[in-house]
Amino acid sequence: MKIFAHRGYSSLYPENTMIAFKKAYEASSDGIELDVQLTKDGEVVIIHDEEVDRTTDKSGLVCEFTLKELKELNAGIKFPNITPFTQIPTFEEYCQWVKTTNLITNVELKTGVIYYQELEKKTIDIIVKYNLEKKVIISSFNHLSLIDTAKYNQELLLAALVEHTGLKNAGYYCKKFGFSFFHPSYKSLNHEMVEECNKHGIQLNVWTVNTQEEIDYCRLLKINGIITNFPKEAREYINSLKEKSELGLV
Ligand code: G3P
Ligand code: CA
Repeated sequence: MKIFAHRGYSSLYPENTMIAFKKAYEASSDGIELDVQLTKDGEVVIIHDEEVDRTTDKSGLVCEFTLKELKELNAGIKFPNITPFTQIPTFEEYCQWVKTTNLITNVELKTGVIYYQELEKKTIDIIVKYNLEKKVIISSFNHLSLIDTAKYNQELLLAALVEHTGLKNAGYYCKKFGFSFFHPSYKSLNHEMVEECNKHGIQLNVWTVNTQEEIDYCRLLKINGIITNFPKEAREYINSLKEKSELGLV
């Protein structure tokens, strides 16, 4: 089962920053999940909210700042014990770094609240520039963004992200629209959902899986991957289960 670090190693480090991504890598994550939005001057940046208020020292919409202005904000404000200052990364900076690793990246296109003009195309152009096509999964709550992504590049793996309500016939839906993955909330996960996805050849990556009990359930259902705020703890727990099983203790 693959471990994706949700917004990087976000339980211990400032979310969606290079520090959190590098720490997730050091913690033996298989992949990183991150969120992209567009600046006023059309640059792809990594930040979860449409506003900068929750994660930085300023307030306002991401799309009201130029990249130069955004770079002056402190994205480490909630973690003064980790760093006095860290910037909001551009997606390009991230790609330059991740290219040197074996990590898979789940790029979530944040087009559900503000529909950014050309976020899909600009994100894909950067992925292609760094030859990362085979190492990314593009997800979005806005499935039109996935359809748009496929128009620009048919090689990219797509994932239908859905809210806590789930989607009863997700496997059928994903197959019909050419999405290889289904990304449900853990809250909606159940045996029938997995079975229906398996029937249609659709793999599941589940968010946000943070406890050992949740990991156990995902393992039981043989899901492809978990998206977690605790990648180190998840890796250690899964390794401990493997050791026990090798010793014949479980
Ligand atoms: O991609 C899974 C998860 O990140 C979706 O929710 O709000 O954390 O972006 P959110
Ligand atoms: Ca996300």
